[in-house]
Amino acid sequence: MSNTIVIGAQWGDEGKGKIVDLLTEQADVVVRPQGGNNAGHTVVSEGRQYIVHLIPSGILWPGKFCVIGNGVVMDPIALLGEIDGLAEKGISVTPENLAISDRAHLVMPFHREMDAYRETSRGNSKIGTTKRGIGPTYGDKIDRIGFRVHDLVGDPVRFLARLGERIEECNVLFTSVGLEPLSSETIGRDLLAAAERLRPFVTDTVASLHRAMAEGKQLLFEGAQGTYLDIDQGTYPYVTSSNTTSGGACTGSGVPPQRIDRVVGVTKAYTTRVGEGPFPTQNDELADRFHKMGREFGATTGRKRRCGWLDLVLVRYASMVNGFDDLAITILDGLDDCPEIPVCTHYELDGQRIDLPPAAVTDFARVVPVYETLPGWLCDTTGVTRYEDLPANALAYLARIETETSTRVSMVGVGPAREQTIVR
Ligand code: IMP
Repeated sequence: MSNTIVIGAQWGDEGKGKIVDLLTEQADVVVRPQGGNNAGHTVVSEGRQYIVHLIPSGILWPGKFCVIGNGVVMDPIALLGEIDGLAEKGISVTPENLAISDRAHLVMPFHREMDAYRETSRGNSKIGTTKRGIGPTYGDKIDRIGFRVHDLVGDPVRFLARLGERIEECNVLFTSVGLEPLSSETIGRDLLAAAERLRPFVTDTVASLHRAMAEGKQLLFEGAQGTYLDIDQGTYPYVTSSNTTSGGACTGSGVPPQRIDRVVGVTKAYTTRVGEGPFPTQNDELADRFHKMGREFGATTGRKRRCGWLDLVLVRYASMVNGFDDLAITILDGLDDCPEIPVCTHYELDGQRIDLPPAAVTDFARVVPVYETLPGWLCDTTGVTRYEDLPANALAYLARIETETSTRVSMVGVGPAREQTIVR
């Protein structure tokens, strides 16, 4: 094991939680570097399902230390809800196993209001956000008017004064569009109560992570969302507001690039997306099949995910921009009963072949995916434990992914349980 980043190669929901859970066994510290409670990482452990949103999924392992890094946007009330929810399931979250960066930005109630309002007012061009206030919080961060965790747990008088001013400013906007004004007294009171409980967790996590590395500890970075939701590399503007690609793990934690030893890309054996935006290989028949099986509903919002065939143009570019050392292919078993499996090898745009995603979202929406159809394996893979024991057609499918992406497949998921990941 070494310092490792786990990154989604698609539009999120690739099953990163499960891969992180597997790699956590050899890690000492699990770091969440970006995003907020828009994420939902599902892990099945000893027959029980856990969904974590802000807390790294390493929290499910005894003896592992978890860090919410400076690049995260943190909703204090949501975080406390998550801590309490885990406690009810017997997972104790204390400053012994969780640290929160003093530099992380706070998601405030007015950010959630703005997110919801903007979505509604966008009409047909809505992004389909999770309405957790993520975009407006990162917007304020970049605009240099955000609130950070150290503001919340520091001087309460100063915090309340700044909060009052900001809410007054937001209320002018809210009332002008017919929304109810927010009460700075109620919000201030709730946030200061949350601050009391969160204060013991707050620290300079950059210093903690460098100390851990100096002691020879191994770090595991749990990327949230996926490459095509990245604010720079994704299908802009249908993206989230953080850098979900591997560079975001460094800026979001204060761990420099040369300390990273391995970047693992995670992709489903097919493709899914929640929210709006282009999706060249979308296929409604495949979606219906998964939904009837009770699969492919969002972990955070419960929304039906859009589904389609594997798009190797996406995985190829994701491998380039993240520097994937290897790939984990999840839910291979999802294709067990497909007689034929189309894979998209490239696109055509206005009659021209293209092998990498176009920049303009309008072009992305127009590309024609070009498929190669591979034979299915038509047998149950959920009990397979060794790579070489996978059916020949499944091995050929995986080999095709390796060739098209120039990246080695190192892990294959064949079911939701911890033991259903084949390590090659
Ligand atoms: P936001 O992150 O809530 O602003 O949403 C922006 C876009 O990212 C929407 O299309 C969301 O559905 C999508 N998104 C955000 N977080 C996740 C996630 O964890 N998995 C999948 N999609 C996500």
